[in-house]
Amino acid sequence: MGREFGSASARWCHLTGMDVKPVITAVSDINPKAMEWFQSHMPALQQASPDYSDVLANPMVEAVYIAVPHNLHERMYRDAISAGKHLMGEKPFGIDKPANARILACMRDHPDVVARCCSEFPFFPAMQQFCGMIESGVFGRIIEVNAGFLHSSDLNTEKPINWKRRVETNGEYGVMGDLGMHVCHVPFRAGWFPRNVRAVLSNIVAERPDGQGGRIPCDTWDNATLLCEAADSQTGDTFPMTLKMQRIAPGEMNTWHLEVKGMKACARFTTRNPQVLETLDYQAGKQDWKQVMTGYTPVFSTITGPIFEFGFPDGILQMWAAYLHELVHGAAIRKFTGTVTPAESAMSHELFTSALESQRTGATVPVGVAA
Ligand SMILES: NC(=O)c1ccc[n+]([C@@H]2O[C@H](COP(=O)([O-])OP(=O)(O)OC[C@H]3O[C@@H](n4cnc5c(N)ncnc54)[C@H](O)[C@@H]3O)[C@@H](O)[C@H]2O)c1
Repeated sequence: MGREFGSASARWCHLTGMDVKPVITAVSDINPKAMEWFQSHMPALQQASPDYSDVLANPMVEAVYIAVPHNLHERMYRDAISAGKHLMGEKPFGIDKPANARILACMRDHPDVVARCCSEFPFFPAMQQFCGMIESGVFGRIIEVNAGFLHSSDLNTEKPINWKRRVETNGEYGVMGDLGMHVCHVPFRAGWFPRNVRAVLSNIVAERPDGQGGRIPCDTWDNATLLCEAADSQTGDTFPMTLKMQRIAPGEMNTWHLEVKGMKACARFTTRNPQVLETLDYQAGKQDWKQVMTGYTPVFSTITGPIFEFGFPDGILQMWAAYLHELVHGAAIRKFTGTVTPAESAMSHELFTSALESQRTGATVPVGVAA
């Protein structure tokens, strides 16, 4: 993900009308090969160190992006915040709920630091239109919400283990810590908060090659289905909200999707068909789904014309534009044009912690998220 940011910064000229530009001047990675890529491709780079505290001590560095295994989030995020660096962090923003709480406590001690968490899918133009519909209340009373992020990344049982497949480094949440924040971002921003959760978590592939000829336990949850009773924070109405996160979803490459069904209208979006927003408006008296071709019409304008296609790296570029806009101007352009806030990350930890308890007990577990 560090290189994704490097690439986005290198094509900042793609954006038009931005009054802020990221310049990568320093990099840290314990793997020299990972640093070499930045040394070869980032012309403004002045510092490369295997010790991240060197970067934090560098007065030229105003903001940092920290994309590391989850067991390192707390220490590095707190060190960055304490050093007064603005922070773009990664999900799950702390390996577990206590780690997340300590990061947020550190932020309270440094209120001038702008810290956010990555989540790029809401920046697809079709999703921004979808979010505009949520914001203007066109759905009426919500009937149900279904959101998910489905991969087939772990379908191959011979894929060697890595840090994301180990509790020690990925965390007990398993797939929820990996994909969950992406799924929660829009519902949480909409003010749809789970009151309780019944979770079914699956560990389908219990061991994997260790990369050295042997096999070792793969102890993380591969798939998670969370059925929540959610409440609309504006109206208090409750409705079912299903959140799915799967690393073993045959037929899905990287499918992020959202469906909202309301009493006045419905809408759905999936990255399987990223140019299209599907809507259903009952007010016309018919139940006809409509397909709206959204083209290349992102929030932050670019040199690309509207007839072209939008993709993952474009979402990353837009997300970075959104973060830097917020950093410089103190607020997002619109409600759904902001990256995940630390408070939203804390809500996700409440949900995933309750989901783990639900899996353990088989019970529906309250979620401590205020609606
Ligand atoms: N936003 C997204 O779509 C998205 C996608 C994938 C991963 N992620 C998140 O990004 C983060 C990193 O995931 P990734 O896929 O890039 O992992 P990765 O394993 O590809 O990269 C992690 C990097 O951290 C480096 N590292 C490890 N320990 C370090 C230390 N002490 N100091 C400096 N560098 C160190 C590693 O050498 C490696 O280069 C995770 O939080 C993950 O959940 C986000």
